[in-house]
Amino acid sequence: MHSLIDFSALTKDEREDLFTLASSIKARPGDYNGALHGKIMGTLFYEPSTRTRLSFETAMLRLGGGTIGFADPNASSVSKGESLRDTVKIVAGYADITVIRSPVEGAAFAASLYSDAPVINAGDGAHLHPTQTMMDIFTIRERFGKVDGLTIGICGDLKNGRTVHSLIRALSEYENVRYVLISTPELSVPQYILDCIAGRDVRFASSLEESIGELDVLYMTRIQRERFASEEQYEKEAHVYVLDRAKLDRAKDSMIILHPLPKVDEISPEVDDDPRALYFEQAKNGLYVRMALVMRLVQAGRAPVGRYECGERYCPNPRCVTNHERALPVLVENGVCRYCDTKV
Ligand code: NCD
Repeated sequence: MHSLIDFSALTKDEREDLFTLASSIKARPGDYNGALHGKIMGTLFYEPSTRTRLSFETAMLRLGGGTIGFADPNASSVSKGESLRDTVKIVAGYADITVIRSPVEGAAFAASLYSDAPVINAGDGAHLHPTQTMMDIFTIRERFGKVDGLTIGICGDLKNGRTVHSLIRALSEYENVRYVLISTPELSVPQYILDCIAGRDVRFASSLEESIGELDVLYMTRIQRERFASEEQYEKEAHVYVLDRAKLDRAKDSMIILHPLPKVDEISPEVDDDPRALYFEQAKNGLYVRMALVMRLVQAGRAPVGRYECGERYCPNPRCVTNHERALPVLVENGVCRYCDTKV
């Protein structure tokens, strides 16, 4: 493992190793002080973030390393028109590992092509968010001791939520997971994600109230306002699914509620005090899984950068990095764009 772009690309052994290490860091954090002494993390955040950036930076500081980077691209040379490729190459010269978040789909994968330092995808547009998935699955495992056989409901913006896409894909690596996908027709899961769970036990639902009783895990999500074309379209979809006390009364006592956060109004404040609400614990777990991941990637070290022939623009997805950056190679696998998973 040289970079983390997509959680479901990890082998079972790599996943197990990361979760075991994260558990041991959580149990005895002091043992890992100074594990990455003298190492530097570069954080390139082209999109807003609170938890993800702060937890990555905290992870590196707790391991004894340091951090450089930006939280606002307008305060960097990006505002002068510098390409992703140049920025990434420069930062790889300064830092031992790069964490990148971008509104553009496939940006982290593109960065990994040009960086000899390991790259972590901290969210690429509406595409994927693999480290969020690590903390989601870590939290499920901590509570149930397993992922296999659970019924997992995912509710809200299944179209634009990158945490949803990463999670659905990753859960397909486990046995007999039942998916209950709860959304309006407009915000249902994109086809390329459904393709990953073809043949699985999947139920599409429109009512949270009617579905909640069968769930072991309820994963609530925010309607992704920033991905809508207009405020009017957002308002049509907002406030449809709200988890409140009355709905929670229909859930199993053993069910857990997860949310990648930030939450807006999809969970009523009174739910925070319910013992089933695990989202603050889940956010805390983000620190331990990121410490584990950063340790493993920095220990694995640098890898040589390939040489690529650059080609014409080819991807029909306007949000794909190949339509935003010059000088990216044409990479199509099984008729699918390697950067953003769109059919070509
Ligand atoms: C998520 C994201 O950025 O995709 N936030 C996070 O990293 N915890 C979820 C969201 O913004 O709704």
